[in-house]
Amino acid sequence: MAIDFTLNGKQASVDAAEDTPLLWVVRDRLGLTGTKFGCGIALCGACTVHVDGVAMRSCQTSVGDVAGASVTTIEGLESAEGRALQRAWRELDVVQCGYCQSGQIMQAADLLAATPSPTDEDIDSAMYGNVCRCATYHRIRAGIHRAAEILKA
Ligand code: FES
Ligand code: FES
Repeated sequence: MAIDFTLNGKQASVDAAEDTPLLWVVRDRLGLTGTKFGCGIALCGACTVHVDGVAMRSCQTSVGDVAGASVTTIEGLESAEGRALQRAWRELDVVQCGYCQSGQIMQAADLLAATPSPTDEDIDSAMYGNVCRCATYHRIRAGIHRAAEILKA
């Protein structure tokens, strides 16, 4: 059946079973490969997208659950928080292999939208479920602090 939702500000319609993971739809049906598959069981955060502005694991979100909702992937992250994070990530050279980083940025954007001046504890708590096999955690934390500064300026 056709399922309609907004993807990165544009209308999207896919013919798919309602229980198809949103991650498969975004990557394989709609061609947006910035969102990554890591574990498939909500344990790594690589697949994080925003649904109506809230960070969600797209591997564990059914496409039927986003009917009528607004989905944002890393390709469409144009919020002030998203732009600040991407600038901070470049300034601090946060990325190593990069595989986890779109999920890290999507999760961090959700954090900054709710908590514009996060403490280390806020960051650790919000980012706990986003795994980085390259162990860039210190740079991710520094990047989030830098993005908060950019947003304040
Ligand atoms: S692929 Fe979704 S949390 Fe790991
Ligand atoms: S930068 Fe390589 S997994 Fe995070």
